[in-house]
Amino acid sequence: MKINNKHYQTIWVKKENPKIIQAIDQRLLPFEFKIVDLKTVDDVYFAIQNMVVRGAPLIGVTAAFGIYLALLNSDNSKSNDKYILEVAKMLGSARPTAVNLNYAVARQMNALKKAHSWNEKVRVALETAKRILREEKEYCRQIGLHGLTLIEKICEKKSHQTVNILTHCNAGWLACIDYGTAMAPIYFAFDKGIKVHVWVDETRPRNQGARLTTWELGHHGVPFTLITDNTGGHLMQQGLVDLVIVGSDRTSIKGNVANKIGTYLKALSAKDNKIPFYVALPASSIDWELQNNCDQIQIEQRDAEEVMFVEGFRENKIEKVRICPENTNIANFGFDVTPARLITGLITDRGICKAEREDILKLFPEYN
Ligand code: MRU
Repeated sequence: MKINNKHYQTIWVKKENPKIIQAIDQRLLPFEFKIVDLKTVDDVYFAIQNMVVRGAPLIGVTAAFGIYLALLNSDNSKSNDKYILEVAKMLGSARPTAVNLNYAVARQMNALKKAHSWNEKVRVALETAKRILREEKEYCRQIGLHGLTLIEKICEKKSHQTVNILTHCNAGWLACIDYGTAMAPIYFAFDKGIKVHVWVDETRPRNQGARLTTWELGHHGVPFTLITDNTGGHLMQQGLVDLVIVGSDRTSIKGNVANKIGTYLKALSAKDNKIPFYVALPASSIDWELQNNCDQIQIEQRDAEEVMFVEGFRENKIEKVRICPENTNIANFGFDVTPARLITGLITDRGICKAEREDILKLFPEYN
């Protein structure tokens, strides 16, 4: 994606020094655009846990680079299997809900089985991380192309009037490597000249919608309106939403979707108002081992501070203010699970399918 006419991905290997991984610091957006250097596996762990980088596909790719950095900074004795296993476990635990983290770490572990010397391990880890990055980017491009067909159909049906799309959290290019998942079809539609307008949920407590989705859409020139998290239902009742598209952190093979907290409520309102509710996700966000119910998905609970304080920009600096009495009891669930029955369809990198086992496996027969 372009920021002030320069093309960026969310993460890359530093050109002049491949021992450094660089990423956009998402904690500071939209107020400050800053690139951070990740030099060690501890830097990577910190970046994932503290949401310097966030979004399911991006944290997966970052973890893959984490294993590379761990090997690079280890000596021969430390590049043994036990050490790498510990690193993999540590990275995998940085954030529990998005399956992409485990997916990318498992890919690295598998690839490393074939490498023996330290040199070989470092080379394989870097190549694997770069491969996952390229794949994730392509997955999103494909999601964009498949999702575009949905928007085109609605546009036809509305006689080319503006298509109003509601999205939750940030499932744009910032959450991925490029393009985004939920946002990719919107960018493709906009680029094709289709009139689109996006309702952006602010997405408390970290405000990924207000801070990141608005920033992304603004840079691309896509018209949008920021709304509070409670507004979507009203808009749907008023006929002001044609389509909902959200992302996914972990989708079970039965089509249940864990995504940012609040997604479930949007799905309920969409169902009640007969509005199509789609989830856009790459293959790497499907948990092929999760056969059963939604309650098997571990929901991340984050620090109470995120709810107690709101961050904003005042007199040229980022400031935090408390919004409730001190010592308030706080619950901060990061995600919820939307049952498959509320989902109209999944927009995957291989096409669109129903949120059900048989249909998912038709697109991904190798997991049957
Ligand atoms: O807590 P975050 O910001 O990492 O949560 C991100 C989301 O919930 C996204 O919707 C999800 O990762 C899908 S993004 C491609």
